[in-house]
Amino acid sequence: MEVIIKPDPEAVSKEAAALFQRQLALKSTSVLGLATGSTPLGFYRELVRRHRDGHVDFAHATTFNLDEYVGLSGDHPMSYRAFMREHLFAQVNMRPDHVHLPDGQTEDIPVHCEDYEDEIRHAGGIDLQLLGIGSDGHIGFNEPSSSLSSRTRLKTLTPRTIADNARFFGSEADVPRHVITMGVGTIMEARQVIVLAMGAGKATAVAAMVEGAITASVPASILQMHPKCALIIDEAAATQLQRADYYRWVYDHKPHWQRP
Ligand code: GLP
Repeated sequence: MEVIIKPDPEAVSKEAAALFQRQLALKSTSVLGLATGSTPLGFYRELVRRHRDGHVDFAHATTFNLDEYVGLSGDHPMSYRAFMREHLFAQVNMRPDHVHLPDGQTEDIPVHCEDYEDEIRHAGGIDLQLLGIGSDGHIGFNEPSSSLSSRTRLKTLTPRTIADNARFFGSEADVPRHVITMGVGTIMEARQVIVLAMGAGKATAVAAMVEGAITASVPASILQMHPKCALIIDEAAATQLQRADYYRWVYDHKPHWQRP
């Protein structure tokens, strides 16, 4: 895993946007895996800015989002579909029929999850997957104890994730208990993965992900097995890494042809 430590959240967002820009420049028909939460907000702002400046073209891209709350319609302001519309899709030239998110109001969740997996496969698989990380080490909504080979399915949120996400809903009671999320196995099949983390609240999860044992107790730790995964973090999220100086040294000595 490549660990890139940037001075602040803005630099994290810019580095990630540069990698997405390069991906779309290399392959205009890229299949992008997208994430929600507060972490990628600056990244989406930067991507929109680059699109407006004529550097990023979504005309031929396809997207699949990681997850959605069960019970929320796409019009609910806290749904991830609404989040994506507001922060990216309404501001760039994405084709609506190329946008995919799990449907939180589907009548048959298992069938819908299988269909979602089929759609990813038919699109050719995910070229570049963006991830955040939960304070308990979850990716997507794959909470601790999730099977490391799981596929898209229903999950029940932990009380900790409910508490973490209550800030978006106003109260814990309003946070849905269930979600549909791509599985850990689904995420691992993406050809390239970029994980973003910012702030001291993520430092423990980041250290466990990068330097801890691979375990379902920290679902993000399976990314140690991914052949092409970059973790981009700010200084605050890097404070518990044992080998931070080595990661900085590697980045500083990176050959030019590997840079975005
Ligand atoms: C949510 C999302 C994840 C996200 C994580 C961290 O539960 N399902 O995709 O990475 O929590 O959220 P935040 O970026 O707001 O800290």
